[in-house]
Amino acid sequence: MKRIILDCDTGVDDALALLLAMRSPELSVAAITTVSGNTTAALAARNTLLTLALLGEGPFPPVARGETAPLERGLVTAAHVHGGDGLGGITKLRDADGSRRYPEPAPGLDPRDGPDLILDTVGRFPDAITLIATGPLTNVARTIIRSPARMRRVKELIVMGGAFRVYGNTTPVAEFNIFADPHAAQLVLDFGLPLTLVPLDVTESVCLMRPEVEALAEGAPLARFVRDVTREYTDYHARRDGFPGCYLHDPITVALAIDPTLLESAAAFVQVETTGDVTLGQTVADLRPGKRARPNARVCTAIDAERFLALFRERVMGTE
Ligand code: RIB
Ligand code: CA
Repeated sequence: MKRIILDCDTGVDDALALLLAMRSPELSVAAITTVSGNTTAALAARNTLLTLALLGEGPFPPVARGETAPLERGLVTAAHVHGGDGLGGITKLRDADGSRRYPEPAPGLDPRDGPDLILDTVGRFPDAITLIATGPLTNVARTIIRSPARMRRVKELIVMGGAFRVYGNTTPVAEFNIFADPHAAQLVLDFGLPLTLVPLDVTESVCLMRPEVEALAEGAPLARFVRDVTREYTDYHARRDGFPGCYLHDPITVALAIDPTLLESAAAFVQVETTGDVTLGQTVADLRPGKRARPNARVCTAIDAERFLALFRERVMGTE
């Protein structure tokens, strides 16, 4: 069993990643922290509690709201992708009796802020925590700044972020999580913990297609949530990318912790553009064969898409 902290900007695919993590016996979710990215850290916290409530009465891991703004640059969010509520508009959905299909969750945030919850959790489980970041790295960076010695006791980092041999999804060269806080990403890379990046190179090679989601929607309660929460997100991908489906960036990142054989990776020395006008947030790695500067990360380069989708269907859409 792998003990994890999930640091997320609960948005649509973060919510699906959270469900995957919570429903996977290979993982024990020790804490969840939220960061501004897809939406504000506060709404991400609400969305995290709302998603957890789908799993029943609990008990649930502590959830703390983290950093509300990037280390240096201004806040950018992605309401055009994840909806104004961060969950694809599902907080507006009503059932036939007029009640909200997904009601506001009961208050339940941890009194600590995100970095303190991370530090306390690493203190409880030294050298045993896999910290999975599926949002901008502001919380992780702030936590390193607050207590570098404690953060040295994190076992490994798994980060959804970057684009190496593919275009960015936010600018021609930058992926959103890195673009939103490039200074935090560079600080985390410089800190030197064992780090695996899960970039668009692999996450954009897997699509959850609308016909399948619709077909499974009435099969299980979570499958209906998957349909509802991905509807607007899929509309966005249909408009922008031309296919009736959506990417599962964050569930793939969690899946790497569940089953490392699902993805291939290569050691690389990765740097982040933090000053460019045109290239801000670009992740640069020298992946040329034979060229291996001192590596500071592993970069995922391939995924077994069908095995991942089978895992996702089984664990999140309840098809087993
Ligand atoms: O670029 C995709 C990443 O940015 C995903 O983690 C998505 O949720 C957003 O945070
Ligand atoms: Ca995310």
